[in-house]
Formats: sequence, structure tokens, C-alpha cells
Amino acid sequence: MTRLAGKFALITGAARGIGRAFAEAYIREGARVAIADIDLEKARATAAELGEGAIAISMDVTQQSSIESAVSETLAAFGGIDILINNAAIFTAAPIVEIAREDFDRTFDINVAGTLFTLQAVARHMIERGTGGKIINMASQAGRRGEPLVAVYCASKAAIISLTQSAGLNLIQHGINVNAISPGVVDGEHWDGVDAFFAKHENKPRGQKKKEVGDAVPFGRMGKAEDLCGMAVFLASDDANYVVGQTYNVDGGQWLS
Ligand SMILES: NC(=O)c1ccc[n+]([C@@H]2O[C@H](COP(=O)([O-])OP(=O)(O)OC[C@H]3O[C@@H](n4cnc5c(N)ncnc54)[C@H](O)[C@@H]3O)[C@@H](O)[C@H]2O)c1
Repeated sequence: MTRLAGKFALITGAARGIGRAFAEAYIREGARVAIADIDLEKARATAAELGEGAIAISMDVTQQSSIESAVSETLAAFGGIDILINNAAIFTAAPIVEIAREDFDRTFDINVAGTLFTLQAVARHMIERGTGGKIINMASQAGRRGEPLVAVYCASKAAIISLTQSAGLNLIQHGINVNAISPGVVDGEHWDGVDAFFAKHENKPRGQKKKEVGDAVPFGRMGKAEDLCGMAVFLASDDANYVVGQTYNVDGGQWLS
């Protein structure tokens, strides 16, 4: 199928993990994708592996000048941006009494401000072009409720759900659909770090936390990045034209809402 034939996408943090899987899925559906990442070397390697449907772009979503140059570079290569996925984010965790202000600032800078100002830059282009577009933000089940050791990351993902609603309501007048995906627990390098944190703070052997969270998923296992691709393709397609400001759980049944 080529549900995204002729479309151009910019995906932040796409050098690895879920963003990379989205890029692969979009290319399979006929789109061309800018793999934008702070790790340019990895973005280049990923783009090379994905073939001619992909280009690599250097982007640090915490820097306004970098957001603007990444958008300009993508426009220079493709001529337009039809789809944006705000996927870049970091995980952080600490007991409440140990949270460092620098850690809070860095997490909110990447996860929240990075999403908002990348969305803003791409929305400005979409409005000027006048053909609408699709913007997908990456939330998380962590944004649905707080967790004792994950206050800052949870709060950052709750902010994504809220921003998705506000941007969705504000931009639909321009034919721009803003929605979000809320994954549960998705195996990969991100979760290797989460597992290592809990190994330290809950005194568990490495791999134990992953096993516990996987066993707790009603579906019966942790998610894989590929499990999220169907929703990412749907939200980027014309089938989602009437979908506005929503956050969809794609989590094997973890969160019911
Ligand atoms: N893995 C999970 O279990 C899970 C669950 C819920 C939500 N999510 C969300 O899904 C998204 C992708 O997660 P993942 O597991 O693939 O993460 P990941 O850590 O594997 O990948 C994140 C990517 O973002 C890039 N990045 C980091 N800082 C950046 C910056 N300042 N500018 C540009 N790029 C930057 C990294 O280089 C990396 O390639 C994130 O928003 C994450 O919060 C993940």
C-alpha cells in the first residue's frame, strides 16, 4: 500500500528506536523522510540503510536556530513538509527529593519546548503553503498518571497531551491535524536505560524490570516500535482528516481511556 505517496515527512529523533521505525513505515507507504537527530552520524547511517526515501538532517530541538535550519534543509531537499513527527525526547528518573533543577530544565527543554517550537516552525510553513498537514506528537502512558520515581518525565509527557489539544484546536482552521500517540513500554535502547535506572533504585538484576513491565501488559509482552507504526501511518493519512487534538493509546491495553 502507498497511503502516503508523494508526501514529505520530518521526523525528529529518528536516528534510532521508534522514530526510525516510523521512518521505515512512511517510506514503505510512499513518503520521503528527513531523519532529523542530534546524533548526525547515526542519522546518516540510518538514512543510508533506509535508502533513497530518506535524508539525514542535523537537528537539536533545544536550539531555535537548529530547528529553523532543520526545517529549511528539509524544505530545500523536498520542497515542502506534509507530516511532522515530534519524536525526540529523553527519559529521566529520580526520587522527588533528588531531582536536580538541571535535569528538569534539560528534560523540559527537549521533550516539551522542543516539541512546541518544532511544531510551531513546521506549522508556519504549512500555513504559508496553504495545503494543511499532519503533526504527530509523542506522548506516553507516563503522561496519563504520575509515577513515584519518574516525576519529571511524566510531567513532560502530560504537557505533550495538553499541547496536542491546544495546537490541535488552534491549527485545524488551517487544515493542520495535530494528534499524539501514547505508547506504553516499548523495547529498545531507551528502555535499556530505564531498566538500568530501576536496577539501581529498586535493587533488581538487569533485565528484571523489563520482564516485570512486559508481563504486566494485558497483551502479554512489551511493545515493539513496529507496533506503533499503524497508528503513525493512519494519523499522517487523509483517513485522519477529521481527527483533532487526540492522544491515542497504543500500549497493548495498559491504559484505558
Ligand atoms: N520506548 C518507550 O517505551 C516509550 C514509551 C512511551 C513513549 N515513548 C516516546 O517515544 C519517543 C521515541 O522513544 P524511543 O524509545 O525511540 O527513544 P530513543 O531514546 O531510542 O530515541 C530518541 C532519539 O532522540 C534523539 N534526541 C535526543 N535529544 C535530541 C535533541 N535535543 N534533538 C534532536 N534529537 C534528539 C536521540 O539521539 C535518539 O535518536 C520519545 O518521545 C519517547 O518519550 C517511548
